[in-house]
Amino acid sequence: MASPMIAPSILSADFARLADEAAAVAGSDWLHVDVMDAHFVPNLTLGLPVVESLLKATDIPLDCHLMIDNPERWAPPYAEAGAYNVTFHAEATDDPRSVARDIRAAGSKAGLSIKPGTDIEPYLEILKDFDTLLIMSVEPGFGGQSFMPQVLEKARTIRKLVDSGELKLLVEIDGGINADTIEQAAEAGIDCFVAGSAVYGASDPGEAVRKLRAQAAS
Ligand code: DX5
Ligand code: ZN
Repeated sequence: MASPMIAPSILSADFARLADEAAAVAGSDWLHVDVMDAHFVPNLTLGLPVVESLLKATDIPLDCHLMIDNPERWAPPYAEAGAYNVTFHAEATDDPRSVARDIRAAGSKAGLSIKPGTDIEPYLEILKDFDTLLIMSVEPGFGGQSFMPQVLEKARTIRKLVDSGELKLLVEIDGGINADTIEQAAEAGIDCFVAGSAVYGASDPGEAVRKLRAQAAS
């Protein structure tokens, strides 16, 4: 496995100072951007205009996590804007393959996300069409929730398929990742760790990223 990736989630950052908050985690692998529509999840955050501005304000590749209905309509514009990775929810569409195709055609990596209660088995076949699998380890919608270790079983299943060469995919986890939980997630085979409150709640976010990466690698 390559060295662990850390993706700070700006959901826990100061939205009035996003450029500075991105600069505070320079050296992160990805910057995780939670897009919520108050329909798919009971919270509302930011959308395409903010992502377009962030793209101009930082060199860190943007990892857009779309917690929205109708990704068919709304996901491709994030790829067109220049997001590095565009992830949408399996639960939000009947045709995840065609959304992935459109995201890739617009020039981004395509990610599929599943909520804690969603099984991975029905999606194993279509994962060949994705670059990233984002396993939610909290119910999507809010930062600062407690990690749900039971989702790691899904990570172990996918890790085996990636290691055996049956799938070529980056395995990402999102929700409740901090100094107490990152090691068990790393042991389950996670490649990329999203961390919101553990990074932006720290007095030095850049140092928090380095510490988490070192812990995941240990
Ligand atoms: C929750 C979001 C997460 C959130 C994680 O729905 O998808 O990315 O920012 O926050 P923490 O790391 O605080 O659990
Ligand atoms: Zn997220």
